[in-house]
Amino acid sequence: MAGGPRWDRRNLLRTGAAALGGAGVGWSAATAVAATAPAPPAASGPTTVVGPPAGAQTVPALGRHQTGIATTPQAHLALVGWDLKPGAGRRDLARMMRLLSDDAARLGAGRPALADTEPDLALHPARLTVTFGFGPQVLRTLVPAQRRPVLEELPAFSRDELEEQWSQTDVVAQICCDDPVTLAHARRMLLKDARPFAEVRWIQHGFRTARGTVPEGTTSRNLMGQVDGTVNPTEADPDFAPLVWTQTSDTDPFAGGTFLVVRRIRMQLDRWDRVDRAGREGVIGRRLDTGAPLTGTDEFDAPDFSATDHLGLPVIDPASHVARARSSDPTQRFLRRAYNYTEPDPRRSTGEDSGLLFLAYAADLARQFVPVQQRLDELDRLNAWVTTVGSAVYAVPPAAPAGGYVGQTLLEGADDGVADS
Ligand code: HEM
Repeated sequence: MAGGPRWDRRNLLRTGAAALGGAGVGWSAATAVAATAPAPPAASGPTTVVGPPAGAQTVPALGRHQTGIATTPQAHLALVGWDLKPGAGRRDLARMMRLLSDDAARLGAGRPALADTEPDLALHPARLTVTFGFGPQVLRTLVPAQRRPVLEELPAFSRDELEEQWSQTDVVAQICCDDPVTLAHARRMLLKDARPFAEVRWIQHGFRTARGTVPEGTTSRNLMGQVDGTVNPTEADPDFAPLVWTQTSDTDPFAGGTFLVVRRIRMQLDRWDRVDRAGREGVIGRRLDTGAPLTGTDEFDAPDFSATDHLGLPVIDPASHVARARSSDPTQRFLRRAYNYTEPDPRRSTGEDSGLLFLAYAADLARQFVPVQQRLDELDRLNAWVTTVGSAVYAVPPAAPAGGYVGQTLLEGADDGVADS
C-alpha cells in the first residue's frame, strides 16, 4: 500500500476516542471527527481513506437518556437477555449493573474494560453503545413501589407462536456497533462480568446495511427486500421526546427513561419468493425499488389512502401493512429500531431461520404500541409471511447518574439503600 495514507494506532488514539476524551462524536457528527483530525499525509497514488476510520467514532453521552435509542442505528446488534440467578437480590443486581455500566462506558469510549483480557480489541469503538433494560419481574420484586415505573407484560396476540427460548428475561443489553469484532469483544466482556449474578437466556444477533455500502442516511432494507424504517419519529419532530422519553417530574427516578418492546418475527422467505413483485408491493402498500407509497414517487411522499385505480379500487389496500400500522391517533406512534436476523437452521427446509428483530421504544407501551400490534394481529396482509416467535418488554432506565450506574435511581434511594436486600 505504498503511498496511501495509513492510520496507525497512534493516529487513531490522537484523532479518535482518546483525543475526544471519551465524549466522542456520533454518526451525524462524522464531519466533526474529520474536523478534529490532522490532514492525512499527501498521497501519491489512489486512496480510499479520506478521514479517520469509522472505527474511531464514539457516540456522545445524551444527558439523562441512555445512548443506543435515539442514536442512528449502527450496523450490528447483539441483544443479550439474562435471568438473575435464583436468590439474587437488589444488591446483586446493583453490583452487576455497576460492573456492566462501567464496561459500557469504557468500551464505548474506545478504552479497554477493567481487567480486559484483550485490550487491543477495545480500541476501535465504531459507535459502540450498550443500552440496558429491566423486565417486569425485576421491577416487581427488586424495585421498591415508590420508585417503580409501570410496565405490564404485553397482552396475548392471537397470531403469536411464541417459543420459550426467546421469551421474557430479567435484564437485557442492546449492544450496537458498526464493527462486528468490536461488538463481539464488548459482548464477551459484558457476559463475563454478568456471570456471577445472572444466566444468559438468549443472545439474538441482528444486522442492518453496513456503513459505507450506501450513502449515509439511506433507509435500511429488511430481508423481504423492503425499505423499512421510512415513517419513524426523528429527533427533529416536536413530539419525539414525549413519544420516546418518560415525561415525569425531574425528581422521578425514571425520568428520561423509556420502554422497549422486543419482537422476534420469523419470515417465511421461501413462500415470499413465490409472490410476484406487484403482489409484494401490494402487501406493504409501498414500492420495492424506492420505498415510495403506491400513490407516490418518492420514499417520503405521504401515502394517499383515498386514491383509487381505474376500477375504483383503493391503490393502497386497506389491509396492507402500512394502512393497518398507521393510526389517525398521533400518540399511537413509537420509535422503531429493527434489525435483520438470519441464522443457520438445518431443521428448516431452507436451511436457515430469518426474520426481523423488531425493537421499538416508547414512553408508554400500553398506549402507543399495544393498539398498533392489536390492529396488525387482527388484519395485516403481511401476516401470511411472518410469525412472531419471541416477545419481551423492558423498562429502560435513564442514563447512569454521574459516577453511578444504569438503574441506580431505581435500585437505590435516599430512604432505602441496596444494603437491605
Ligand atoms: C417482519 C415484520 C415486519 C416487516 C417486514 C415490516 C415492514 C414494514 C415496512 C416495509 C414498512 C414501510 C416503510 C416504513 O415506514 O418503515 C413498515 C411500516 C410500519 N410498520 Fe412494519 N414491519 C413489520 C412488523 C411491524 C410490527 C410488529 C409493527 C408494530 C406492531 C410495525 C409497525 C409499523 C409502523 C408503525 C409502520 C409505519 C406505518 C406508517 O406509514 O405510518 N411493523 N413496516
